[in-house]
Amino acid sequence: MSSTLSRAETWSLLTLSAACVGVLVKTYQDDGEPLFASLALGLAAFAASYAMIVWLGDAFIAVGRKGTDMSKKHKVEIPETMGAVCGVVYIFAIIIFIPFAFRRDIVAATSGGGSKDAVLNVEHVETGRILHRFPLSKLSSYAYALISVALIYILGIADDIFDMRWRHKVFIPAFASIPMLLFYYVDFGVTQVVVPILLRPYFGELLNLGSLYYAYMAAVTIFAPNSINILAGINGIEVGQSIVIGILILLNSSLYILPLSSTTTSPPNQATMDVHLFTIYLLLPFLGVSLALLKHNWYPARVFVGDTYCYFAGMVFAVVGILGHFSKTLLLLFLPQIANFIYSAPQLFHIIPCPRHRLPRFNARTGLLEPSVTTHPPEKPLRKPLVPVLELLHALHLLEVKKDESGRIISSTNLTLLNLWLVWRGPRREDRLAIEILSMQMCVGLLGLWVRHRLALLVFTQDNRAVGGSHV
Ligand code: UD1
Ligand code: MG
Repeated sequence: MSSTLSRAETWSLLTLSAACVGVLVKTYQDDGEPLFASLALGLAAFAASYAMIVWLGDAFIAVGRKGTDMSKKHKVEIPETMGAVCGVVYIFAIIIFIPFAFRRDIVAATSGGGSKDAVLNVEHVETGRILHRFPLSKLSSYAYALISVALIYILGIADDIFDMRWRHKVFIPAFASIPMLLFYYVDFGVTQVVVPILLRPYFGELLNLGSLYYAYMAAVTIFAPNSINILAGINGIEVGQSIVIGILILLNSSLYILPLSSTTTSPPNQATMDVHLFTIYLLLPFLGVSLALLKHNWYPARVFVGDTYCYFAGMVFAVVGILGHFSKTLLLLFLPQIANFIYSAPQLFHIIPCPRHRLPRFNARTGLLEPSVTTHPPEKPLRKPLVPVLELLHALHLLEVKKDESGRIISSTNLTLLNLWLVWRGPRREDRLAIEILSMQMCVGLLGLWVRHRLALLVFTQDNRAVGGSHV
């Protein structure tokens, strides 16, 4: 990979960056919409990540951060862990955004309506009444979200450097979630869930889950990053799926801040709008850095994203889902990842042997990807009770097994959604497989959101687009 930008790239990125700085300065001077600042920061984050990935590629290789693309004819080594660049740019983008997010609050909280010449009343300063009007809790949500993202970033890099074992690395997100969960406890603390109408005779309208709710939130945080990391192995798929989830969350949050449709009557309250704006502000720079990474990671990949990116992306989603109080809707947007996890479970829990890599197999003769397999040699045969199960799954087209002349199973396809897709649809070129999986994910997500907002009215009496604080 060349470590310099082409002339066209340089000029495009410079123009984009200059326009973004212009928008940021104007927004700050005019107390403008923070959304414009967030959008400008997202684009600036795109430009910065795009350039830095190109500039730093060789430096990453020089310190051993490289990997071999297993699905290419000519096996070349390309930079690995490039998600680390995105993580840093993202963290800075959010830090820079904070003054824009609170510009209006600073103005409102300052005596004299923001006029810097106005003399502050000493009494007010001493009693702290001026600060009372500043939304400190809102500011803290940014701070704690950032701490959790920064923590997973550090732990993700440790994983990429030391290539940790699955049984250890799977809990990395749990540690990183601690700051966010503690903030949730101190700031919001709601552990009640709205009960569907059908179950209300047994549980009442609201069910308090207490500490179980924290266990559930920790589970969501462990699941989101790891599920992205195991739906992996073809160019563009880790970043691509994260961008799709990001767009779907953005769409969901926009529904809360745009004027309501006729299905609900009351307008959304300020608290609901605030958490969804918070979500949008955290997501726009995320999409910026991710699109830059996708440009370099798309087929034929010039860089790999590394586990750092998968953890970082999953953590951003967990943070917005939990602090935005829509963790169950979030899970709806993770349906393909949930399916991949359930399907993978026999290998993840070593009921069926799990090789280090389960990515599809590259057929050098055809140039296409085929399902990869786990072999079951005579010295290590498949456990007896599993034989009829695999045969049944084979008959149902849920995997493929190969047998020898004696009828003994000698291999079975690896249990990932990517391999299953290849079993169903036949061999495919790598980019075509990625496009099909991402399109499927987008369709499932849009359907999920539609069902979520339509059926919520039937199952919960009202869609929480019009109410704040409840978890639906
Ligand atoms: C996870 C998967 C593993 C899969 C790997 C691919 C589980 C339990 N683990 O492991 O099965 O093989 O992701 O990322 O499901 N690579 C490519 N092409 C790509 C992406 C990656 O060849 O498009 C290879 C490269 O050699 C790269 C390596 O995979 O260096 C990265 O693997 P890593 O992310 O460390 O694997 P895991 O996340 O541990
Ligand atoms: Mg990985």
